[in-house]
Amino acid sequence: MLTGKSLNSPNGKTIYRPVSYRRGTMQGVTELPAPETKAAVVEEMFDRLAPRYERMNHLLTLGMDNRWRRTALDLARVAAGDRVLDLACGTGDFARLAASRGAAATGLDFSAQMVAEARARDSGAYVRGDALALPFADGYFDAIVSGFAVRNFTGLEAVFGECARVLKPGGRLAILEIDTPRSLPLRLGHSLYFARLMPVIGGLMSGDRDAYRYLSRSGAYLPDASGFARLFHGAGFDNVWRRPLMGGAIQVLVGQRR
Ligand SMILES: C[S@@+](CC[C@H](N)C(=O)[O-])C[C@H]1O[C@@H](n2cnc3c(N)ncnc32)[C@H](O)[C@@H]1O
Repeated sequence: MLTGKSLNSPNGKTIYRPVSYRRGTMQGVTELPAPETKAAVVEEMFDRLAPRYERMNHLLTLGMDNRWRRTALDLARVAAGDRVLDLACGTGDFARLAASRGAAATGLDFSAQMVAEARARDSGAYVRGDALALPFADGYFDAIVSGFAVRNFTGLEAVFGECARVLKPGGRLAILEIDTPRSLPLRLGHSLYFARLMPVIGGLMSGDRDAYRYLSRSGAYLPDASGFARLFHGAGFDNVWRRPLMGGAIQVLVGQRR
């Protein structure tokens, strides 16, 4: 057993101090993984979850997740003929929705099992790769979309920098993520569902309680709105704005490459 260091988000907001973990496994995780092991723990966890991930996602969002992805594609103004990257694509929901608009979609994920699941669903372009070192030429894409992945990354500045590099000038980045509602009643309901019910329901249905405990807590890795804005601007994006969905439980952050 190792003990990790505390973790700060890019805007300096303090995140969790991890208690303990075993190298390369979620078993025994009581808090969030330490920065130096987060990538390995997350990759192993998504490899394990991959066969059940999409079904669980639709179930836990009551089938609303693809509606949110469509909104993000609208906000990124994805149109026929665009080259679109689905960053950290998982099973490729975003890539398929982009392709259904006539875009040339590429999905990238570092989990080999997620990439295998995506390839089993359609004949699109899915590659295994790391968001911190994208295997694409400068200025290749018209738009990048990414769903529920940012809180799983380590090194957000590097990831946003890579997004800026592979986008054309004027290219759009849309990040779909969870958030916390501002209004007190919604916040209470959200916290009951997200912090209490989801780990139990997700754990029971998937048989992987540790993974759903991590997923319910991992929002703590996310910067707040001004932290996100700083990341976008610092990486080379303008016209940065944020659209709350579901009373603020979900957010889409959008920026345009300078
Ligand atoms: C919660 S899933 C989201 C999957 C999909 N984007 C969706 O909308 O459902 C997060 C994904 O991020 C991937 N991921 C995390 N860190 C990554 C990295 N550094 N590079 C590439 N993929 C990464 C994981 O493997 C996982 O498939």
